[in-house]
Amino acid sequence: MSPYQELIEKKTALSVIGLGYVGMPLAVAFSKKLPVIGFDTNQEKVAQYLCGIDPTKEVGAEEIATAEIHFTNNEADLKKASFHIVAVPTPVTVDKNPDLEPIKSACMLLGRNLKKGDILVFESTVYPGATEDICIPILEAQSHLISGKDFFVGYSPERINPGDKVHTLESIVKIVSGCDNETLETIAQVYELVIDAGVHRAPSIKVAEAAKVVENSQRDINIAFMNELAMVFDKMSIDTSDVLAAMATKWNALTFYPGLVGGHCIGVDPYYFISEAEKLGYHSQIIAAGRKVNDGMGEFIAEVAIKELIQKDCSVKKARIGILGLTFKENCPDIRNTKVVDIITHLHSYGVEQILVSDCWADQAEVSKEYGIELTPETELKNLDCLIVAVGHDAYCQFKSTDLQQFFAASSDILVDVKGLYKENQKDFHYWNL
Ligand SMILES: NC(=O)c1ccc[n+]([C@@H]2O[C@H](COP(=O)([O-])OP(=O)(O)OC[C@H]3O[C@@H](n4cnc5c(N)ncnc54)[C@H](O)[C@@H]3O)[C@@H](O)[C@H]2O)c1
Repeated sequence: MSPYQELIEKKTALSVIGLGYVGMPLAVAFSKKLPVIGFDTNQEKVAQYLCGIDPTKEVGAEEIATAEIHFTNNEADLKKASFHIVAVPTPVTVDKNPDLEPIKSACMLLGRNLKKGDILVFESTVYPGATEDICIPILEAQSHLISGKDFFVGYSPERINPGDKVHTLESIVKIVSGCDNETLETIAQVYELVIDAGVHRAPSIKVAEAAKVVENSQRDINIAFMNELAMVFDKMSIDTSDVLAAMATKWNALTFYPGLVGGHCIGVDPYYFISEAEKLGYHSQIIAAGRKVNDGMGEFIAEVAIKELIQKDCSVKKARIGILGLTFKENCPDIRNTKVVDIITHLHSYGVEQILVSDCWADQAEVSKEYGIELTPETELKNLDCLIVAVGHDAYCQFKSTDLQQFFAASSDILVDVKGLYKENQKDFHYWNL
């Protein structure tokens, strides 16, 4: 019986290693077709899942509570599965080099529990070559099995967009790759069970790895170009969004906007590519420049707010500044690598003492653990001299001028609109947008 047949006849199971923003939607989708083991080393997370709690808000508590997934942090349970999907984090270190520790440790524990005939697919974003050069040797050493003979490896990058209810797992074409044609075909068939949009068979694991890291680098560079334009247009007193609207009337114009680039994908993945290119003797210029521009946007926005305060004769030190939105993007509780924190850090560096941060999606406990910030309830965001709306959560997009005016002190009205949400109401405020 083929590995695919064994799976669909439920004689074996599929495991997902790493149940976060990527792993949990996969586990839930596959659990509708196959027996699924959901493994995570974080005991607290597994306990939450067992209680039907969804901290990422990606699939919803009800889906988790009703999904037939065997949640576990006991690695021996992985032996019950023969098809494994790895979706553990791939962050960067403080000096912006790939931090492969989570993926290496996932390979160690998978290797200890590997059986002959098993298929493993890596979904974590890595640089081209990482699966074959880093993961396979660990798996072989731990299992005493041989890759390509006893067990088989593939790579399928994840392209979901947390918080986006249109581009969901099922509706995005999935790139799949395998160590040989037979493995590629099995991996493609397994993903076709859940991906309505279909799969794209990449010719090699390296190509699939590269496709992911460059699609995010391409986005990073394009946003960096917009950010550079926005900084220059600010000096020229030209509204960038007006320029982009005019430019967009050409048939081949690309639609990108300036903004903060945080999170642990677009703001991180390009470093994987830069670092690997560097090892091969190529010093990246375009990708590295894009990263530098985007990483500087928090400082730029903080400086804008300071300038506006000075122009309005408001004491910077005594100013009461409110920030709406802390997560790295809209409609999602993810605060990892959020660039709103850069705005806060730079405001502090100018001596601003009162910075009140509010976010309708972020989790208070996580925010204080990660950044030592105490969130302010939106209702207490009052008597402000300046309001910075940093994230375009749907709830903030609804605000009318009268709602926004509630946040300000009687004589103040400095509105720094990073996402350009209130352009139509600009006449009601001392207004700036990116
Ligand atoms: N979040 C996204 O939007 C997104 C999109 C596409 C690709 N990716 C990539 O997918 C991967 C996972 O990202 P994520 O956002 O789901 O991360 P996440 O932090 O939300 O989830 C990862 C999970 O893995 C667990 N984990 C860590 N080390 C482990 C180990 N050794 N064994 C088992 N579990 C372990 C963590 O406890 C966590 O629950 C990353 O490589 C990321 O770059 C993420």
